[in-house]
Order: sequence, then C-alpha cells, then structure tokens
Amino acid sequence: MIDLHCHILPAIDDGPAIIEQTMAMCRVAVEDGIKTMVATPHFKPGKFDPPTRKEVFDAAELVNKRIREEGLDLKILIGAEVRAAEDIWSYIEENDYLTLNCTGKYSLVEFPLGELPDYWDMVIYELIEKGVRPVIAHPERNAGFIDDPDLLFPVVKSGAILQLTAESVTGERGHGLADISAYLLKNSLVKIIASDSHSADRRRPILSKAVSEASYIIGKREALRMVTTYPELIISGQPI
Ligand SMILES: [Fe+2]
Repeated sequence: MIDLHCHILPAIDDGPAIIEQTMAMCRVAVEDGIKTMVATPHFKPGKFDPPTRKEVFDAAELVNKRIREEGLDLKILIGAEVRAAEDIWSYIEENDYLTLNCTGKYSLVEFPLGELPDYWDMVIYELIEKGVRPVIAHPERNAGFIDDPDLLFPVVKSGAILQLTAESVTGERGHGLADISAYLLKNSLVKIIASDSHSADRRRPILSKAVSEASYIIGKREALRMVTTYPELIISGQPI
C-alpha cells in the first residue's frame, strides 16, 4: 500500500522530533503492509516556518538511509501539505517539492479546520486551471464541509480529489467523522485514504483497518484502489 499523507520526517513539523521516532513509525507502517509513504510536512507560510527544499530532501535522505540499514521494505517520497491561501499558486509554481513526489501534477491542499475561507473554491479552480490537481486533505474534518458536504460535488466534478483520513473512516475519531466519511464514499467522491500520521503511538501510519471499513461501503476492490492504484497514479504524475 501507499500512504499519500503523513508527517514522518524528523524535526521538520509537528511529526516526530527525532529520527528514532521516525523509525518507530516506519516499523508500524511496514507491519501494516505499507511500502511507500509520501512525507507531507506542513507548509503554512506565516504560521509555521515553512521547511526549505534542502531541509526536506536532507531529512528524507537520512530516513531512507536508515530504512535501508534496517532492511525495511519501505521508501519515503517527498511532498507537502500546503495550507490553502489566496496566493497558493505562487508558492506551488515556484517550489516543486510542494507537489506530491515533486511531479508538478498533484498537490495536497489543506483548509483550516474551522470555517472555510470564502475563496476556498477559487483556489481549487485556479490550481486545476494551472494544471496542478488539488488533493483536498481530510475534508471530513473541515467544519465547512461537515455543515454542507454537498459543496464538494462541483469541485470533484471539476477535477479535485478527496483524501479521507484512515482514522476518520474507522470511527477512531468519533461517529461524526465516520458518518461523513461514509457519505463521501457512498457518493463516489473519494479517491484516496491516507493516514495523516504523526507518530507511532497516536495518529499512527495504519491503512488496513480503514480499507476493511471502506470495503463494507464501496466494495473491497475500490477500497483497495484508494491505497494502491490511485495513489500510484498520483505519485507517478499520471492522470486518474
Ligand atoms: Fe496532515
């Protein structure tokens, strides 16, 4: 399986602080059957100090080296979780590492969990028009989409991709998030399930349970595609 959204690089964002914690996450992921993880550190200009390209590449290289030394069947690719802002395109245009696996084709975009900014759909359409397909991170956790999930139909129709968080699908984050996840799955709005993991003990890199749960709703084949075929197309920059 491929995990398209995780915070696994050491000392880059609010994920692991040190490499030993990163390696503990890697072991959990391998145990679950994950073979590829796209590290998606937060990129929120003005909020956190956004990591530089060199910081991200150096951290990923260090982790991949340790993975090889431990003999784990896992590789870490580079991406980012970009906070939506009116000028998001200017950041993405100038920085290839803000697209998933740096292909320039897909970008993981996060909205504030509280109210949706009034320009939210404008930035989605702008990215699509510029040729970068937005993958909307965990819409089931955004208050604006929880209030009105049908807001997502037109943007998905236009080319946006929705990513659910595995723990939302399983109900580990409460019935509310499981219900809205099920609604989005039933309506064929979702293409990706990812862990959004931050550590080995809490918000863990586990996808298999969510695949089982989603299988009840959309069938096993389509649930599996959300952690195999679809993320594979995204990291290779191919159309979905
Ligand atoms: Fe995240």
